[in-house]
Amino acid sequence: MELRLALIGFGGVNQGLVQLLDTKREVLRAYGIDLKVTAVVDLRMGVLTNPGGFPLDVLLNCIECGLEVKPLLNCAGTDIQPNADLATTLKVIASDIVDVVVEATFTDPNTGEPALSHCRTALESGKHVITTNKGPVALAFKSLMATADAHGARLMFEGSVMSGTPVIRQLSTTLRGAEIRAFSGILNGTSNFVLGKVAAGDTFEAAVKDAQARGYAEANPAADIEGSDVQMKVLILANALWGADLRRSDVHCEGITGLSEEAIRSAPDNGSSWRLIGRAQRNEDGTIVAGVSPQLLPAGHPLLAATGVTNAITFDTDTLGSVTISGPGAGRVETAFAIFSDILELASVHNGAAREGTK
Ligand code: HSE
Repeated sequence: MELRLALIGFGGVNQGLVQLLDTKREVLRAYGIDLKVTAVVDLRMGVLTNPGGFPLDVLLNCIECGLEVKPLLNCAGTDIQPNADLATTLKVIASDIVDVVVEATFTDPNTGEPALSHCRTALESGKHVITTNKGPVALAFKSLMATADAHGARLMFEGSVMSGTPVIRQLSTTLRGAEIRAFSGILNGTSNFVLGKVAAGDTFEAAVKDAQARGYAEANPAADIEGSDVQMKVLILANALWGADLRRSDVHCEGITGLSEEAIRSAPDNGSSWRLIGRAQRNEDGTIVAGVSPQLLPAGHPLLAATGVTNAITFDTDTLGSVTISGPGAGRVETAFAIFSDILELASVHNGAAREGTK
C-alpha cells in the first residue's frame, strides 16, 4: 500500500515522526507500507513538495541543520514556495500527491485554527487525517467525523490524548462492549512535571521553563498550567466515548496556577500529593458532568503512580470495574509514536479489506 504523507507543521512532533519512520523501516515493510513524505509545510520553511517523496535521510539532515531547506532543494522534483500561507497550504493538502495529512501544528484552544481548516479540507478531499492537534478534535469532533464518513476518509487522533500511550483506540477495540460510566485522569504532562518539580523545591517559573526545554509544554504553556489543555482532552474523550457534543463551556476549568508553591510543597508530608485532574461522568439520564481542577490525592491513590510527565487515566466500567492506563503523556517522539501507530492502523484496515476482497 502506497501512503504519501503531507507533514503539516514541522515542529518537534513531525520531526520525531521522521526519526521514527527512519528507525522503523522494517515495521513499515512488514505491514506492506510503501511510505513517502511528499509534502512538508512549515511557517519557517515554506511549502515544500516532491511528488516522488523526500528521502528520509535528507529530511533528517534538514532537521540537523536547524530546518535549513537547502538539503531538500537538492532532491530532484522538489518545489518550494517560501510562504506557507493558508491558501497555499490548503492547495497542497487537497492535491493529488497526498493520501494522508499529518496535522501537527500548534493548538489554538479557542478557534482550532488553522488546524481545523487543514483537517476539514483534507477530509473533504478524501484524504485521511492523522492529528495530534487537540483543537480540531475538541471543537469540531462531530462535524469532522461526518465529513470523514461522507468522503470515505478516516480521522485518527490517538496522539491528541496521552501522546503515544494507547487510549483512544482502546475504547473502540479492546474495551468495546464495556459500558464506561466515567473517567478521571492526569492528562497533562507539563503540569504534572511542574507539580513534581515544585514539590521537590524548584520555583514554578523554573519548572515551567524546564518543561518547555524538554518539549512537553504547549507553544503557550498557559494552556498547560491553566487547564485548557486538559479541558480539551476531556472534551475529546467524552465526545469520542459517548458521542456527546460537549463544548468548552460545558467543562469547568481550573488549572494549577491557583496553588501556591508552599501548598504544593507541604502536601507530600502525609503521602498525599496535588495533581491536576480531568474527569467526566455520564449520568443515568444521559447528561454528562465534566471538569478540570487540582485535587489533593490521598496516599495510595492509583493515579499518584503517575509522576513527572507520565499521564494516567482510570475508566470506571460496568464489567471490569476500574481500568487504569498509564504511560508517557507528552514528548516529541512519544507523541510521534501515536502517529506511527495510526499509520499502521490505516495499513491494517487496508490489508484486512484486501484479504476480504480475495475471498
Ligand atoms: N503540553 C501537553 C502536555 C502535550 O504537557 O501534556 C501533550 O498533549
